[in-house]
Amino acid sequence: MATATIQLEDKVTDFISKPRKMLINGQWVESASGKTFPTYNPATGEVLARVAEGDREDIDRAVKAARTAFEVGPWSRLTASERGRLIWKLADLIEQHLEEFAELETLDNGKPLKVARAADVPLAVDLFRYMAGWATKIEGNTIPISVPYTPGAKYLAYTLREPVGVVGQIIPWNFPLLMAAWKLGPALATGCTVVLKPAEQTPLSCLLLGELRHVKKKTDGVVNIVPGYGETAGAALAAHPDVDKVAFTGSTEVGKLILQAAAGNLKKVSLELGGKSPNVVFGDVDLDKAIAGSASAIFFNHGQCCCAGSRLYVEKEIFDKVVEGVSAKAEKIRVGPGLESSTDMGPLVSQEQLTRVCNYLESGFSEGAKAVVGGSRQGDKGYFVKPTVLVNTSEKMKVVQEEIFGPVVTAIPFKDPSELVAQANDTVYGLAAGIWTRDIQKAHRIASQLRAGTVWINCYNIFDAALPFGGYKQSGWGREMGHDALEMYTEVKAVCAAL
Ligand code: NAI
Ligand code: MG
Repeated sequence: MATATIQLEDKVTDFISKPRKMLINGQWVESASGKTFPTYNPATGEVLARVAEGDREDIDRAVKAARTAFEVGPWSRLTASERGRLIWKLADLIEQHLEEFAELETLDNGKPLKVARAADVPLAVDLFRYMAGWATKIEGNTIPISVPYTPGAKYLAYTLREPVGVVGQIIPWNFPLLMAAWKLGPALATGCTVVLKPAEQTPLSCLLLGELRHVKKKTDGVVNIVPGYGETAGAALAAHPDVDKVAFTGSTEVGKLILQAAAGNLKKVSLELGGKSPNVVFGDVDLDKAIAGSASAIFFNHGQCCCAGSRLYVEKEIFDKVVEGVSAKAEKIRVGPGLESSTDMGPLVSQEQLTRVCNYLESGFSEGAKAVVGGSRQGDKGYFVKPTVLVNTSEKMKVVQEEIFGPVVTAIPFKDPSELVAQANDTVYGLAAGIWTRDIQKAHRIASQLRAGTVWINCYNIFDAALPFGGYKQSGWGREMGHDALEMYTEVKAVCAAL
């Protein structure tokens, strides 16, 4: 198939040609230290752009700005309707700049441009629209109370749902703009103010988002964007004594550090962490659909999805056919730079991830796993890894237990559905699961038995702004998206008045 390198928009070339600043209190500023850090193009390993490197002092300034916007206004004095309209307008603006966002995402993260255009950016737009609608629908209750020790007394009791306050948000690099939207949407809908720290690998699309402040005076200080490293800027934000809540997406390891850092002022914590999601294929399936779905469950976004279907359990009688089918799909995936029109899968995001994934492959091979397809890096420039299907694994191997976060699936046969549930649940994680079967009773029974925050039946990786997403067990605390997300950004106040 013919391929062509997609030409970047002038605005994008211009955007990356200058060092990018950070956004604090509505102003683009240098870091307090004056330092910048590089972000790399994962297709080449070359420096793509330089970005202001935030640290403790910058985080502190940003938190002060967010506190003022929250306490003093004008943000906190807007009506719910005005807030909703501003969020909706933001969605419109992202949509108008869709191509720039998609190109920046491809440059910084490596994903194919067609994916960024079709998934990352439209999903972010939709999330903001969905949350814009909630701004006017965040309600409390009136509650009939009886109070046995005040016989005869009458009360009016009701609850108010109020914004939790200043929120620190720390996001990863796998869907940079979309993860910002998942975090910012509910925070803004509920009336919170934010300090957002994008991942050091992919700060650019968040910084472009910061350019879209359409009504400057009303929104100064509401969203502050401080790029920087996790151990410095991220840690300072998680520990900051004047932050009311921290919302984090990333590794389970860092999730635990966030929790410890949050203990100082007992700020609220929500965590969206790793996964090792089982994708289960029963013998009665439509094979073509199950094979295509299982391949995309792991290979979408190069396997860099917290919910990737990385453990493929297949009923014994069709195991060989499914492995063959998924491997054939893997072989057809065109791995290359995201800006090539023919590319289906881009590079991993960083040298660190390349090394991590290759180390997992080595560990699997040393323990006896075999690659039906793939199994190594591709080329010697950029961070490309071949889509890989591993067989001959056992439950205790690292490749079966740990999150690889690359295009690597372990295929495992099973005999008996009752055994399957225990096997599928045999992980510290509980983010997502897939079930492929034509038997609806079995599908819903197994769905109820899997310990996972999302279960997909005869589909995989289906996301919607209205559908809550989050983890059981060590996959996290709380839910993002849907109206469940609003609970993580609000406090409930009970008001009781004697009549
Ligand atoms: P990470 O958890 O270190 O990074 C995620 C975010 O946390 C980034 O913004 C980073 O700057 C920040 N961070 C790192 N250390 C911090 C600290 N001590 N305090 C506050 N913030 C901190 O993830 P990393 O190193 O990029 O990837 C490692 C593994 O994590 C991946 O291989 C994958 O298994 C998992 N991961 C899971 C994600 C998910 O969507 N659940 C996303 C990214 C990574
Ligand atoms: Mg890390």
